[in-house]
Amino acid sequence: MWGGRFGGGPAAVMREINASIAIDKRLWREDIAASRAHAAMLGKRGILSADDAAAIDNGLLQIAAEIGAGELVEDPALEDIHMHIEHRLSELIGDAAGRLHTARSRNDQVATDFKLFVRRSIDDAIRGIDALESALLARAEQHAADVMPGFTHLQSGQPVTLGHHLLAYREMLTRDRSRFVDARARMNQSPLGSAALAGTGFPIDRDETAAALGFDRPTANSLDAVSDRDFVVDYLHAAALCSVHLSRLAEEIVLWASQPFGFVRLPDAWSTGSSIMPNKRNPDAAELVRGHSARIVGDLVALLVLLKGLPLAYAKDLQDDKPPLFDAHDLLELSLAAMAGMICDLEFSPERMRAAAAAGHATATDLADWLVSEANVPFREAHHIAGRAVASAEAAGIALDQLSLGELQAVDPRIDQRALPRLSVEASVAARQSAGGTAPERVREAITAARAEIAAR
Ligand code: ARG
Repeated sequence: MWGGRFGGGPAAVMREINASIAIDKRLWREDIAASRAHAAMLGKRGILSADDAAAIDNGLLQIAAEIGAGELVEDPALEDIHMHIEHRLSELIGDAAGRLHTARSRNDQVATDFKLFVRRSIDDAIRGIDALESALLARAEQHAADVMPGFTHLQSGQPVTLGHHLLAYREMLTRDRSRFVDARARMNQSPLGSAALAGTGFPIDRDETAAALGFDRPTANSLDAVSDRDFVVDYLHAAALCSVHLSRLAEEIVLWASQPFGFVRLPDAWSTGSSIMPNKRNPDAAELVRGHSARIVGDLVALLVLLKGLPLAYAKDLQDDKPPLFDAHDLLELSLAAMAGMICDLEFSPERMRAAAAAGHATATDLADWLVSEANVPFREAHHIAGRAVASAEAAGIALDQLSLGELQAVDPRIDQRALPRLSVEASVAARQSAGGTAPERVREAITAARAEIAAR
């Protein structure tokens, strides 16, 4: 493809380090689509004859059918997917194949192909997020009023509802989704026609190829267009943060499924056993979602570091942009799907959760709040009184809501019988009516609002 000025061939190791076909063959669909758009435009502009343009298009369609049927013959001497397809085209249609590369370079070609692939990856991510979101909403609705401990420092803090807890992850996912949507809008400019780095002297129509490939417009600067991989970084950043959210949820599933918690039981479909301990039911899928996020974060870092020292414009380092993207794409797809499956199928144990919520004196804040609103005690003093009530419950070896009125009045005589019903975990969550709070009505409203938001997308 480029041997004109060369006498000898490449060394074997040169060939090996240079070849990317084993990896970039995944771009074949995008490469064919971009070449078809390019050839059609060259034909319309009279840069190619109508016959050549038609022969190229038919040849490309045949190659697509061949590769789709698993018939790509890999040859490291042909370096990458672009050369493989062009070489096969020359076998199929002869000399006309050599005219396809008019007014084009592999530099704008690969940038275009890769953008198309990343754009599709974004659509995949959004679809995966949407499926997980609907699983979270369904489970949140089912458990809108079921009480569990809310933690800070992983210490029981105040009771919350399981629905509220699940909706917290839905919030993270909507931010993830919007990051992918933003990235898609930002990247959607066509590099095709930037040629090697400087543009081309041929009278091409970049608007036409951009439109044919679903881009909003052509890129504005040819040097930037062939060396820009910000769109990959944007994808990887959104993917990394999304995977971090999935990892946090995975960590909770691992914790909740452990025997001391017992908040959930993972059904067989999402568990593995142990080869030695017959009792085991391990949360491997959750652990792997947690593990995969480390790799996706690594993929983001790999790409940032790959780019940081590159002078304009294209450099072969950029060929190494694909493994991190493909890796992150595949891992995120799997992680989202596994998480959606687990969320659908988890068997929650509301009794265990309620018992754990009640065990931690978690309504101490409610006692303090009662003293503020019903006995006009300043909050700092009320906090102190409630703390003494907790100490007295702890000394008696019982929960705060099991103290008798007499015992509470021994702590502070301003406490009266109206305070007692406020100390149940149900009363506690029911009282948290502030916007965005955990009261079951607020949770149900949040679900309704989420569904409306989804319908308006
Ligand atoms: N396989 C190359 C890559 O992925 C295609 C671009 C080659 N360009 C070049 N100037 N050698 O980056």
